[in-house]
Formats: sequence, C-alpha cells, structure tokens
Amino acid sequence: MIGTDLLNAKTLLENGRCVGIPTETVYGLAANALDAKACAEIFRIKNRPSFNPLIVHVHAVSEIEKYAREFPEPLKKLAEKFAPGPITFVLPKKENIPDIVTAGGDTVALRIPAHPLTRKLLQQLAFPLAAPSANPFGYISPVTAQHVEQQLGDVIPYILDGGACTIGVESTVVTVENGEVTVLRLGGVSVEAIEAVCGKVRLAINHSSDPKSPGQLASHYAPRKKLFFGELNQLLEKHPTEKKGVLTFSDAAKGTNIAYQCVLSPAGNLNEAASQLFAALRFLDSCDVDIILAEQFPDKELGRAINDRLKRASAQA
Ligand code: TXA
Ligand code: MG
Repeated sequence: MIGTDLLNAKTLLENGRCVGIPTETVYGLAANALDAKACAEIFRIKNRPSFNPLIVHVHAVSEIEKYAREFPEPLKKLAEKFAPGPITFVLPKKENIPDIVTAGGDTVALRIPAHPLTRKLLQQLAFPLAAPSANPFGYISPVTAQHVEQQLGDVIPYILDGGACTIGVESTVVTVENGEVTVLRLGGVSVEAIEAVCGKVRLAINHSSDPKSPGQLASHYAPRKKLFFGELNQLLEKHPTEKKGVLTFSDAAKGTNIAYQCVLSPAGNLNEAASQLFAALRFLDSCDVDIILAEQFPDKELGRAINDRLKRASAQA
C-alpha cells in the first residue's frame, strides 16, 4: 500500500518490518538498522547478495558519531557543506551496527537524507534506518512510490509516498583511505563540488564483477531490454534495423526505426537530466522496442554519475 501515514510507517518499522521510503536520490527499502533480523528481510526481499553492505540513514550529522568510531576532518567538512543531502560517508563502525549491515566489514556507510518526510520519520524513531535502493537487485532504481509498488508492492506492507525524487541518482559514496578522500561511487554530489571543499580526491570507482568489491558491480541499474551505450551516431549506424528506444541528453536523435525517444533535458541541464534518468529507462524498458540506445553524456558534474549508471546498465548488452 502507498500512503503518507508517518505513524503507520513508524509502527511497522518498530515491529521489524520493511517499509519503502522516499529520499531525494531514490526510494529506499528501509528497516531498523540495529535489528539484524529486520535487515535480513531487506536482503531477502531485494534478492541482494549478502556481500553487499547497506547504507545507514540518520536524521542529523550529530548522530554519525553514535555509530562510527571516527569521523575524519575532511569528511566532516563535506558533511557541513552537503548534509543533509546526497552524500554517504564510509567510516569505521561501532559495535552497535550488526554485521549483516556492513557485510561483515569493519566500516559502516552513513548518510543524512534531505527528504523532509523521511527526516521527520527518522526524528521520530529511536533507531537509524538501513536502506538500499528499493528495487530488486540489479534492476533500475525507483524514483517514485509507484515504481516501488510495481516491483515490491506484493512483498512489503507499506510505501511512504514523498513524490518524485528530486536528485534522481544515488548518493555519492566517500571515505578516507590512507589519508586521502576517496570517492567509491559517483552520485548526487559531483566530484567537482567535493573537490571545491576538500581539494583533489581519489576515485576508486570499480566496474568489476568481483564480489569483493561491494556495490560496484559491473552490471547494475539494468533494464530488461538490451541497452547499448556510447556515441549516438555510431550506435544508430550500428543498429539501423532494430526497433529502437533512444535516450539522449538535450537533442532528439534522427535515424531509422526509432519508435520512442526520451530527451532528458532539452535545456541541456545535467541536474535535470539526472532527475529524469531512471524514470526514462523504466519507460523505454516498458515500450515495444527491441533495444535501447543511450548516448554518452558530457563527462562532468552529474554527467559523470549518469554515464556511470548507463555504463553499468549496458554491461550485459
Ligand atoms: O542514495 C542512496 O544512497 C540510496 C538511498 C536509498 O539512500 N541508497 C542506495 O543504497 O543507493 P544501495 O544499497 O543501493 O547502495 C549502497 C552503496 C553500494 O554501492 C554499497 O556497496 C556501498 O554503498 N556501501 C555500503 N556500505 C559500504 C561500506 N561499508 N564500504 C564500502 N561501500 C559501502
Ligand atoms: Mg542500489
């Protein structure tokens, strides 16, 4: 069921159940982060491999030190600037975080979401919320309550409806490794914005299929239709005959057998494009087309996060 009843969401969570929650990035599948059994339900419902750790959501920066042993200075500076918002900090964990949340590891990912409804929920709860994106493992992340309902409506008791997500791609995951600020996943806060606060950062964006690299799997965010990603004219030349759905940045594509098109931002705004990305991928996946072609976005700001998701979406094509 979808609704805006905070008390219902709160009661279900207090009873160890999973609830769909809105955030500014994507919808999450939330459970009590301090309850290993409730978190096990998340893995079961998502069909998520247990080696992939969860993000723990808290309502304020001041909560971070309840669950993390250290909060290095450069990350604190990033929190001052970007939290609440689409940034996640990987920090040495305290004992109160169950092993299932961190996939047995010694670090925990913590984030303060900016969505007002979910912040209110977190303020009313006596525990933080573990929440991965609310999609079956490997599929496109949901950016509306309806997306969550379409896929998980039968297996979760409630989805808190906070409207469409404004950022539209997941949070940027950062940590400090060997004294260096390191970006583990590109996301809603751009690398440029991070570097403006704490200087040059290291990128450790993995595209491997090695399960030892949690959450950085090569294939992810993938539609069911085959998706090809690259320079648009080359893609169109390579696929003249198939019935196509085409996803572009600001200009419509011209070519043969294009059945559907999604132009993410006619004004050429990368933030707007990011906010439309997952809904457009879901739409094209639902259309009567043979394949999806997605053009490469400008390799800057949120364009890098968009390219990252499209690359993973295309990995099996
Ligand atoms: O925007 C978001 O971050 C959304 C919303 C719901 O908050 N959540 C999200 O969760 O994207 P999920 O589970 O789909 O992605 C979590 C990412 C994965 O890449 C995971 O490997 C990484 O965070 N992660 C979590 N804990 C980690 C840790 N201890 N060390 C390294 N990476 C970690
Ligand atoms: Mg996810």
